[in-house]
Amino acid sequence: MSSIHLEAKVGDIAETVLLPGDPLRAKHVAETMLDDAVCYNRVRGMLGFTGYYNGNRVSIQGTGMGMGSTSIYVNELITTYKAKNLIRVGTCGSIQEDINLGQVLLAMSASGDCDANSLYFEGMQYAATADFDLLLKAYNAAKSMNIKTYQGSVFSTNTFYDTRENRWEKWKKQGILGVEMETQILFTLAKRFGVKALSVLTVSDNIITGEGTSSLEREQSFNDMMKIALELA
Ligand code: ADE
Repeated sequence: MSSIHLEAKVGDIAETVLLPGDPLRAKHVAETMLDDAVCYNRVRGMLGFTGYYNGNRVSIQGTGMGMGSTSIYVNELITTYKAKNLIRVGTCGSIQEDINLGQVLLAMSASGDCDANSLYFEGMQYAATADFDLLLKAYNAAKSMNIKTYQGSVFSTNTFYDTRENRWEKWKKQGILGVEMETQILFTLAKRFGVKALSVLTVSDNIITGEGTSSLEREQSFNDMMKIALELA
């Protein structure tokens, strides 16, 4: 048996699944950081792999960008493939002056503009939170590797491009650390289905100052983020 958007057979996907937005990131990690990685999905080019990290079985599955695409893969990973730990690994834009490019964030919660949530909760606002065990494990793993992390809230948006002036001002004041596009629906679905979720993010740009990262900086922070996330396998 497989699901609508994944051609893997039940059993092909590990209980712990890392979720980059970019399927080519999934391929790169599988090829460079996992042992014995096998590709289990090519449908729509949304590559997914299962391999071993320090002897622990782990999968890495692209989700695409935004909460619509992410929700499809998260739903299918949980309901068909019985994934138990779902960990987003991706980038975000910082909206705080003191959170610099290349820093790693552990998302404790996600506000956002997910239309699926507005419909599901009939206009009420659900507080989407990370799983505490995964958060604590990630925090401790980062500390033991001397990787500095920021713990806090992020905002997940479905609109990357927007012409509103000062769009992020109130969210900045509200203490949101960064903006990305997937975590709110990941945390919401994980809680609904009784599984664990976390987001480990690297800051790729500063939305307030317009600064971006060089490819070298991106690679270093990407490696830090992946080392933390893979310790959760
Ligand atoms: N992910 C990385 N940078 C982003 C930004 N500026 N907006 C939304 N998602 C992002």
